[in-house]
Amino acid sequence: MKVGVCYYPEHWPREQWEQDAQHMQELGLSTIRIGEFAWSRLEPVANQYQFDWLEEAINVLHAAGLKVVLGTPTATPPAWLCKQIPDMFSIDENGNTRGFGSRRHYCFSSLSYREHCKRIVTALAKRFGQHPAISAWQTDNEYGCHSTTISYSEAATKAFQLWCQQRYKTIYALNAAWGNVFWSMEYNSFDDIGPPILAVTELNPAHRFAYWRFSSDQIVSFNKLQTDILRAYSPGRDIVHNFMGNFVEFDHFAVSEELDVATWDNYPLGFLTRDGVDEAEQQRYLRTGHPDSSSFHHDLYRNCTAGRLWLMEQQPGPVNWAPYNPAPVDGMVRLWGWEAFAHGAELVSYFRWRQAPFAQEQMHSGLCLPNGDEDDAAREVRQLCAEAGQLVNSINEAPSASVAIVFDYAGDNAQRIQQPGGQHYDPLSYTQKIYSALRQLGLGVDVISPNSPQLASYKALFLPNATVSDDALVNRLSEFKGPVMLFTRTGSKTVECSIPENLAPGAFQKLINVRVNRVESLPPHTRLLTDKKTTLIDWRERIQTSLKPHEICADGWGFHYQQASVHYINACLPKHDLLNLLEKTLQAADIDCLNLGPDLRIQRRGNTCFAFNFGPATIELTKPQLEHFGFNAEIGFLLGESTLPTAGICIWQCGEHSSPTC
Ligand code: GAL
Repeated sequence: MKVGVCYYPEHWPREQWEQDAQHMQELGLSTIRIGEFAWSRLEPVANQYQFDWLEEAINVLHAAGLKVVLGTPTATPPAWLCKQIPDMFSIDENGNTRGFGSRRHYCFSSLSYREHCKRIVTALAKRFGQHPAISAWQTDNEYGCHSTTISYSEAATKAFQLWCQQRYKTIYALNAAWGNVFWSMEYNSFDDIGPPILAVTELNPAHRFAYWRFSSDQIVSFNKLQTDILRAYSPGRDIVHNFMGNFVEFDHFAVSEELDVATWDNYPLGFLTRDGVDEAEQQRYLRTGHPDSSSFHHDLYRNCTAGRLWLMEQQPGPVNWAPYNPAPVDGMVRLWGWEAFAHGAELVSYFRWRQAPFAQEQMHSGLCLPNGDEDDAAREVRQLCAEAGQLVNSINEAPSASVAIVFDYAGDNAQRIQQPGGQHYDPLSYTQKIYSALRQLGLGVDVISPNSPQLASYKALFLPNATVSDDALVNRLSEFKGPVMLFTRTGSKTVECSIPENLAPGAFQKLINVRVNRVESLPPHTRLLTDKKTTLIDWRERIQTSLKPHEICADGWGFHYQQASVHYINACLPKHDLLNLLEKTLQAADIDCLNLGPDLRIQRRGNTCFAFNFGPATIELTKPQLEHFGFNAEIGFLLGESTLPTAGICIWQCGEHSSPTC
């Protein structure tokens, strides 16, 4: 349970570095990330490396007993390089160049840019790969940030043509797979295939889906290009990348195959005001962040790299980039840190050490003000460091998860690519709603890849976005013993984004005898009621089956089908109804739940339990709640107490006779 910070020595006078390093050390920090945007200082002119200042900065940090995560600077190609190889720019969906002047202006497919990345990464890895202060490397910075996953450049088009050739072998196979006979879209040669942009009306979803897969693969290979070099020259160091929140533009499981640790950048208040869908929740959690937003990502990214998780950037105060940027309530910066530890983080690193007085992020807070005085966050981070230091030996088990959400990036994107109507419906938000209900029911959750070999270790599985009909997954699910809950649009597409021959849910019909013969999407505020008063919203499917539905609508459409332990939930539900449905289903399968209400969250790591209050009012943990999570009055609390004010935390260790949940 280490605490760190992001630092930009190149932003500050040389004389300040020692003082900064001492101050960081005094605060209790141990790990400092540097370097990820410093290309113009590392190579101010082509082929003239200037690494001495970086070495000096690393030495200063090292002398203060700090470890360094060194970032490769490839998210910010400098001006001279852009001029030298103008084909490196990415092109947006309107055909415009994403030009120089901020960051992430490169195209993943540019071969010339890849060569320059290889060159700078090799030079850095050779120079610093064995430095004793370097504990890890970060590749690039936030792949895909500012909608840069997909580029429509000439380089990308060429790479896509090649990708198609490898995937489909012949142009006839591609035409057939994509259904190009429709609207005379057939090609005679792979060279004729363009990127899916600038058409008069809707593009072929198969074309877009293939381009999404291709773009995701380009990030995988771009990342691998760097990790291969780093492993060769800096063996034994962790290689990480920092992912983002609420971001599904590429397959993070695939990129993680080459990483030691999936890290991510957590800005809970920014995410809420930028991405929040529910106004009441936006108000309630304005200064705390949504209770299930950070933990969803912890539980997802931890499972990208077999249990290893870091927070590379953590919000310290108001940020600069969301539509509104409120300040966190007192105590929240500490809570987010503890919450990350509760979900298995080995490191929580704050962004950034000192607020920059210049350029784009001068309105973004840090641990210190631009003049070096401590800002509010520094005080909370000092407390977090002290507490984590005290408890580090008592907390060493992995996060406990009795149930899992099987999360498919391709499935999420297939839903986005073709969504007839239902414009306000967001597949990721719906997945998070399911996650949120499970967390409110007191369960530990893993968010896992469809290829996870661990399915059998869970008591129940939830598949919110298994959109693509997948025989291999179905076969593995058929051996699963507990409840499997399939949601709308499961198995509704082939790998090429067409309707499966046997209709939805395609291969999943092997698990449950249902067949979708009509779907409808509903405008916001339209609510349908079943005979048991369940409210259905957004999307509904009519099922052909010999199974009897659990509930039925006035127009005769059934709702909620079950065959043995497999459930098909053929409509979307609002939060409250979803919670009831999951609770009922889990209880029927003897899976212990305890409704914690909207604001309280409890997370276990083996025998250690952590409770957090995200709500506006003080919460008193009740006896049944404490008992459910194995509280033993004789042992008491490791940290805090049963009264939790807003942003309050307590931690306890389960007694010997705790409930099966604990
Ligand atoms: C992240 C990024 C950082 C910084 C931060 C501001 O997305 O990695 O470089 O821009 O946001 O919140």
